[in-house]
Amino acid sequence: MRAIEISSFGSPSGLRVTERPVPHLLSGELLIRVAAAGINRPDVLQRQGKYPPPPAVTDIPGLEIAGEIVAGAAHEAGLHLGQQICALVPGGGYAEYCAVPAALCLPVPAGWSLLEAASLPETLFTVWSNIFDRAHIQPGESLLVQGGTSGIGVMAIQLATALGHRVWATAGSEEKARACERLGAERGINYRTEDFVAVIKDMTQSRGVDVILDMVGGDYIARELDCLADEGRLVLIALLGGARSQINLAPILMRRLSLTGSTLRGRSVTFKAAIAQQLRWRVWPLLETRSIKPVIDRVFPLEQAANAHELMESGTHIGKIMLSLDTIRA
Ligand SMILES: NC(=O)c1ccc[n+]([C@@H]2O[C@H](COP(=O)([O-])OP(=O)(O)OC[C@H]3O[C@@H](n4cnc5c(N)ncnc54)[C@H](OP(=O)(O)O)[C@@H]3O)[C@@H](O)[C@H]2O)c1
Repeated sequence: MRAIEISSFGSPSGLRVTERPVPHLLSGELLIRVAAAGINRPDVLQRQGKYPPPPAVTDIPGLEIAGEIVAGAAHEAGLHLGQQICALVPGGGYAEYCAVPAALCLPVPAGWSLLEAASLPETLFTVWSNIFDRAHIQPGESLLVQGGTSGIGVMAIQLATALGHRVWATAGSEEKARACERLGAERGINYRTEDFVAVIKDMTQSRGVDVILDMVGGDYIARELDCLADEGRLVLIALLGGARSQINLAPILMRRLSLTGSTLRGRSVTFKAAIAQQLRWRVWPLLETRSIKPVIDRVFPLEQAANAHELMESGTHIGKIMLSLDTIRA
């Protein structure tokens, strides 16, 4: 099969088209003919040599796909051969075929194309497990999303808005801040010209926000603690602004704040399958009524994976960057 491999760590030019054997299936896995795959920031880190795949996972990058089931005991998972699905995968998405635990396959939502469905798994699993499971956002509580126009951000804004939460989001330009508002954020905050702490305090009569989803870390942490409401929860999913931070711990005690975080890729299939079930029950109806819409910035053919990574690193995109394969009409 055709696949993209990381021939050398470093720049996007290290991504190269190669021929690999079609994956062998392990117990509980299905073989998917891939129609489309999403690009995610962790793929960039893997290409740079900073995020190795978990043990026993293929070195081919790619964490989410959509396509058609072509082999495996699909019926045991309530699926069938030929069915179109989207799936979270621990690696191997940038390829014509991908082996996937059946428990991590979800049906393509009604009305969504395969290409659109491939943009869902990594962001939905991450957003759900961090905002709804880890931070336990409650009805009536509010959310601040850092990096509102990232693939993760556009999903977090839409999902939280669709479930009735007040949402604010930060982004690095006016255009991106307005895009956050079009997705449902009450206010997009251009962090280059505005102080998100001041905006949040102003818009909440100094109460603060209940939950923050953060991919920046670094010197954001102290400011985030400052604009959390009493009992607020700060959830870290990445450290784009640095892994070290000096903070005053007193507010954590005095205002009963929580600071937590997680990474998804290395978690067990059982853990991810439990998220898949919640998504199917709570989120699929929102996708099928288009309360949540796909936000796709640009689509590249598989061979142009390097160009797709260049676009992600340019930071000019809004939403998802996708790879399309010509195996099935995406
Ligand atoms: N923990 C997990 O399980 C998990 C899973 C998936 C992804 N992630 C992480 O989530 C993040 C988003 O992933 P993605 O695939 O959606 O990536 P993406 O689309 O490339 O988004 C990255 C975003 O980060 C923002 N950004 C970059 N540097 C920043 C800084 N110093 N300050 C503020 N914002 C900054 C950029 O927005 P502006 O241009 O507007 O600044 C951009 O929107 C990545 O860091 C990724 O590693 C974590």
